[in-house]
Amino acid sequence: MIIKRSVFLRNIALGMSASLVLAACGGADTADTAEGEATTDEAATTEETVGVLKVATEPAFPPFEFQNDDGELDGFDIDLMTAIGETAGLEVQFESLPFDGIIPALQAGTVDAAISGMTITEERLQTVDFSRPYIKAGLAIAVQTDNAEVAGLDDLEDKKIAVQIGTTGADQAAEIPGAEISTFDSAPLALQELANGNVDAVINDAPVTLDAIASGNIDGLKVVGELLTTEFYGIAMPKDSENVEVVNDAIMTMMEDGTYAEIYQKWFGEEPPELPESAF
Ligand code: ARG
Repeated sequence: MIIKRSVFLRNIALGMSASLVLAACGGADTADTAEGEATTDEAATTEETVGVLKVATEPAFPPFEFQNDDGELDGFDIDLMTAIGETAGLEVQFESLPFDGIIPALQAGTVDAAISGMTITEERLQTVDFSRPYIKAGLAIAVQTDNAEVAGLDDLEDKKIAVQIGTTGADQAAEIPGAEISTFDSAPLALQELANGNVDAVINDAPVTLDAIASGNIDGLKVVGELLTTEFYGIAMPKDSENVEVVNDAIMTMMEDGTYAEIYQKWFGEEPPELPESAF
């Protein structure tokens, strides 16, 4: 829920003017009245909004969201959401949830938004709203480094595939004929299963799989073939939430004033690509 402090202050300002007018009627100095109004008006226009935005995330998805060595939430999504809060004058409170519990929580209204590397899909749009796209990503296939057999999607028929539950990677795996799919609560657990040799492949978001390999968090894996999809991440909110516009305005502002590019640079070491205004 959002409480706009500007509105709150304006009400106080209005209340104050009224009492000042009353005081003026009672014979107070009119010059004082004018001065008082100018001050309160100024306070009202320079004010920010206060309000708390409860934001769900599943923080085992580096570099987008993870717990750092100090046990704090960190990552591109966390920085972006925090900056959105600052821009919109909202206090962001993160709440960790299992990924497949995020949309139910939005529907139940126990959280106001979710930032979790979540792809904007037609299916999800039936139950929640999304902000404009803030990241372009896509699914990739990972296999063990010494695997010479799997070079693309067609080679995954009848294979064992690990995925994170409730993800677009899980949806993609479900379409592969004869595939035996095992689901995990997090992407790192699925990748570990592959590193342990218990499955043939993982289908997961490319930036996350590549980060796990590059950071040395998981050993002995490689990405093969082309990206299977092009996906855009959005911030999910309950259907018809008034925060959609607030969040979109903040993202737009940050895309124009360089804040977005700065955060993108910090995590990806390059200029952000052009993003469409809408995923579909
Ligand atoms: N982009 C994929 C999806 O939306 C995976 C997201 C997983 N996010 C996470 N924080 N574990 O389905």
